Amino acid sequence: MTAAVREDLDLAPALVRASGEQFARAAADLLERVIAGKPDAVLGVATGDTPVPVYAELARRRTLGLRTDLLTLVALDEYVGLDPADARSYQHYVREEIAAPLGIPFGNVHVPSGLSETAGDDYERLILSLGGVDLQVVGIGRNGHIGFNEPGAEVTSRTRRVELAESTRRANAGFFGGDPEAVPTHAVTQGIATILSAREIVLLARGAGKAEAVAAAVHGEISSAVPASFLRRHAQVTAVIDDDAGGMLA
Ligand code: PGA
Repeated sequence: MTAAVREDLDLAPALVRASGEQFARAAADLLERVIAGKPDAVLGVATGDTPVPVYAELARRRTLGLRTDLLTLVALDEYVGLDPADARSYQHYVREEIAAPLGIPFGNVHVPSGLSETAGDDYERLILSLGGVDLQVVGIGRNGHIGFNEPGAEVTSRTRRVELAESTRRANAGFFGGDPEAVPTHAVTQGIATILSAREIVLLARGAGKAEAVAAAVHGEISSAVPASFLRRHAQVTAVIDDDAGGMLA
């Protein structure tokens, strides 16, 4: 059901270079291929700034006839302590930025609970019960994280509660009135093994701030120092990279 991850794999991700307005179109093309072939696909969705224009492009294609309302959405992560109704929660982001414009009923939107002690195990069971994720969209942090798997995260990790890196809290302060101290200290995130169990993965990176992390993920050693490097253990990864984020690629 889910893709096998082999310890000895080191596969170069397929690279798609697209900048400006082409970025969202190139990423949406990859999503559309999966959605058009399986309208009730399980789509794993990243939050953050990077994918916003991609979701907007999908919503535009919906107005042109792409059927998106049968999709199930599975988020990567959630802040610990935020109520789902909180406008800064990822539950809110996924509903408002993705599900609503795509016509997806909120009953088909899944985000880990930021309030439950058993959120990690519950989410693993949920993903299994959905039959796994068909296509997982991930961003990359400046520190090489995927989801909230910060440097040090193991390739075998599953959905669990984690402590956020200081750099991540600074990077996400914009969503919390500009104050890094206001960003929750912990989150619940799909683990790296959880992410790698998706049948296909699309990595999105825009901006010069991501260039070092992208180069380390694509060309560096595969190690928990750069969690995104573990994506090279998966055979179906496409990275959509703009000129700035790709500026340090060979
Ligand atoms: P961003 O976040 O899209 O807001 O840059 C990506 C990430 O940290 O994974």
